[in-house]
Amino acid sequence: MEEKIKFLIEKLNNEHSLELDEYEYLIDNRTETARNLLKSLAVKARKKVYGNSVYIRGLIEFSNICKNNCYYCGIRRDNKNCDRYRLTKDQILECTYEGYDLGFRTFVLQSGEDSYFTDEVLVDIISSIKQKHPDCAITLSIGERNKESYKKLFNAGADRFLLRHETADKEHYEKLHPTEMSFEHRMQNLQDLKEIGYQVGCGFMVGSPYQTSKTLAKDLKFIEEFSPEMCGIGPFIPHNSTPFKDNMAGTVELTCYLLSIIRLIKPNILLPATTALGTIEEGGREAGILSGANVVMPNLSPLSVRKKYALYNNKICTGEESAQCRTCLEQKIKAIGYEIVTSRGDMKEGNF
Ligand code: SAM
Ligand code: FES
Repeated sequence: MEEKIKFLIEKLNNEHSLELDEYEYLIDNRTETARNLLKSLAVKARKKVYGNSVYIRGLIEFSNICKNNCYYCGIRRDNKNCDRYRLTKDQILECTYEGYDLGFRTFVLQSGEDSYFTDEVLVDIISSIKQKHPDCAITLSIGERNKESYKKLFNAGADRFLLRHETADKEHYEKLHPTEMSFEHRMQNLQDLKEIGYQVGCGFMVGSPYQTSKTLAKDLKFIEEFSPEMCGIGPFIPHNSTPFKDNMAGTVELTCYLLSIIRLIKPNILLPATTALGTIEEGGREAGILSGANVVMPNLSPLSVRKKYALYNNKICTGEESAQCRTCLEQKIKAIGYEIVTSRGDMKEGNF
């Protein structure tokens, strides 16, 4: 293997940090041998912290109504072909009861930016879930708000917040979003969430339009410096009714390579193998776990709305009952020598 890339992978493994141009080099010059070395070190690092455990999160997609117009997203405001829905509080609670019985101890509440869900409405939902299931963690993935709002939701019992930064490069951000959205606002939100005390997740799509190895290097440097508890990365997949409908999808190969790099940047990070990864290729999520990921997020949304939460084409798991999806994933994880555990699955603290 080329000496320089080997040196960089070993440096990353030992120091958990690289310079921007080194990350870029690592991405541009990857070879089969480099990939394998990176992967084996990432798996080693992950096993040292989490053993063979894979944490599960029950994903509840509670509304696909969104005031935003991100160019890549299937539930964007201007997509008139999207069949909109919003779950009631009772329907959301029902998903958590079913999820609890299936062994879930983390619920991820995800939605478009739906203004029906004011702080008051969300506080009521969050506190009701917490009252019923004090042993469960609640993760929110509901987009941009302000610090006061995030504080209220935190005080109501929300533990974690996923807000992908989407890209750490301002110019790239502006190519993915209309002018009404701002890079600075999203980044400020991430800082605010951290200050409030949430366990925070950032992340980005792999292979999004206009992404380069330079913008990816910035993403990796941002993850290194921001040091989130979680990081959600998955391939970009075009959606038919969006401006990016003709763009190429990201690959399993690059996504897995980046998962390994992120594992080495922060060995104790919570790193999901995403549904998007399983959508572009059969076995994609398993490949993610074998590259250093340690979280999966089966769907708990009611079957009647699953197909409607279509961020991209051909999303998997839209025809399966929650129980089926849970069992199916458990088998897939077992088959590759890992084990699903039913606990809250907080990030392990320590000096790794
Ligand atoms: N509205 C919330 C937000 O913005 O954080 C949560 C829902 S949003 C749909 C969740 C994530 O889906 C986004 O952060 C984005 O990275 C991802 N996503 C959207 N469209 C996608 C696509 N076409 N391919 C892959 N991922 C996509
Ligand atoms: Fe959802 Fe297999 S993981 S059906």
